[in-house]
Amino acid sequence: MSKADVLLGLQWGDEGKGKIVDVLTPHYDLIARFQGGPNAGHSLEFEGTKHVLHTIPSGIFHTDKQNLIGNGVVIDPIILNREVEKLLEKGVDVTKNLFVSRKAHLILPTHRILDAASEASKGLSKIGSTLKGIGPTYMDKTGRNGIRVGDTELSDFKDKYEFLRNKHLELIRLYDYTEFDLDKMEHEWFESLKVLNQLSKVDSEHLVNTYLQQDQKVLAEGAQGTLLDIDFGSYPFVTSSNTITAGACTGLGIAPNRIGEVFGIFKAYCTRVGSGPFPTELYDETGEKLRQIGREFGSTTGRPRRCGWLDLPALRYAIMINGVTQLIMMKSDVLSEFKTIKICTAYRYNGELIDYIPYDILSGKLEPVYTELRGWMTDLTQCARMEELPEAFLSYIRFIEEQVKVPITILSVGPDRSQTILRKPELIYS
Ligand code: GDP
Ligand code: IMO
Ligand code: MG
Repeated sequence: MSKADVLLGLQWGDEGKGKIVDVLTPHYDLIARFQGGPNAGHSLEFEGTKHVLHTIPSGIFHTDKQNLIGNGVVIDPIILNREVEKLLEKGVDVTKNLFVSRKAHLILPTHRILDAASEASKGLSKIGSTLKGIGPTYMDKTGRNGIRVGDTELSDFKDKYEFLRNKHLELIRLYDYTEFDLDKMEHEWFESLKVLNQLSKVDSEHLVNTYLQQDQKVLAEGAQGTLLDIDFGSYPFVTSSNTITAGACTGLGIAPNRIGEVFGIFKAYCTRVGSGPFPTELYDETGEKLRQIGREFGSTTGRPRRCGWLDLPALRYAIMINGVTQLIMMKSDVLSEFKTIKICTAYRYNGELIDYIPYDILSGKLEPVYTELRGWMTDLTQCARMEELPEAFLSYIRFIEEQVKVPITILSVGPDRSQTILRKPELIYS
């Protein structure tokens, strides 16, 4: 019996999960998304084309491999439909290599309206949600009112839908929010359900465990990042699911003792999109330089991402919560034009030096303490092997490893599949 490996983000999302899942897929049999929904935007690039996936796992381009949308995911059939069509245009017929869990919850049109109404009502303290209906859908899930993929196969589906929709409309009235055309949204939603109904719906916990029992390899793909986790993120500026390793257990039905490697992905610096605390955020031209070189604009919403230096206390926290066994460092190439590079090693908090994230991160008393390292000032994007990497870059890697005590086994030096250096292949494919 094999164990499932997990790959997830250690920061505020957009670390490059899509790219690395695609790179690792040839070594797996099943790639399974375990939480989140179309708030995610996972990019992968090969043969000169960039692809962005929102709901479908990033193993989908390897058509000899299977993919699963797990029970922990929330699905908007409209967005799923668009993804299915786009993939078909690119020659990928997902009816052949995609399963959908019957227990995954559906995002209704009124969930999206509720998301927008809730954000509008918050004014300046808004979360900066992607407005895909994520929060309201998970609220209905935990509130035991949700509608699941499996319900679409039952005879009382329409009744269930109307009951929940009417309840939502009452709530929307309370918000006094009127900027929507529900008829149009519902029409598109029901049309899209037809596409969902053509996909293979499964009791996914059995499927995943059968793969493991047959000694096949499963990779669980996370969405968002640890600092957006509903329990351990910068609450309330978080998403509404468990983005951490534990989320792979509940989002797929994998027992905790059946988790194998945990790949933690981080950028060589930090970004965040949406509101909320970000201790190392740069408001100056250095932040702008990171944004421009790193093309830091959201894959789902196009919003500019906030940028800052790498935050080691936050990274250590994410490693602890997830039980990360190996690290993957992304976008190293973006730092190539910086003479000096800063890394936050601790915070000054109420006059004291601390190396952890305190409970109160909202009132602005947290000040990063930096160590300054020499930049490498060398283009990394053409480097394919460890021997080609400049010494100053290797020092940057060693510094991080010494600080966090987990090996960095994969380095990414550009967006393309091929721009990936496997630093310790014996660990990656152990
Ligand atoms: P995800 O949500 O974690 O899958 O990440 P996103 O796809 O939202 O954001 C990562 C962005 O960085 C995408 O535009 C990728 O194409 C790009 N990218 C990934 N790895 C690298 C890298 O090593 N260098 C550069 N320059 N870009 C990268
Ligand atoms: P991937 O998987 C980056 C952020 C939003 C907002 C907060 C809550 O591509 O890394 P939500 O729509 O979930 O209610 O938004 O979380 N957010 C993400 N930021 N990457 C993502 O996904 C994100 N998904 C949600 O910007 O601040
Ligand atoms: Mg993304």
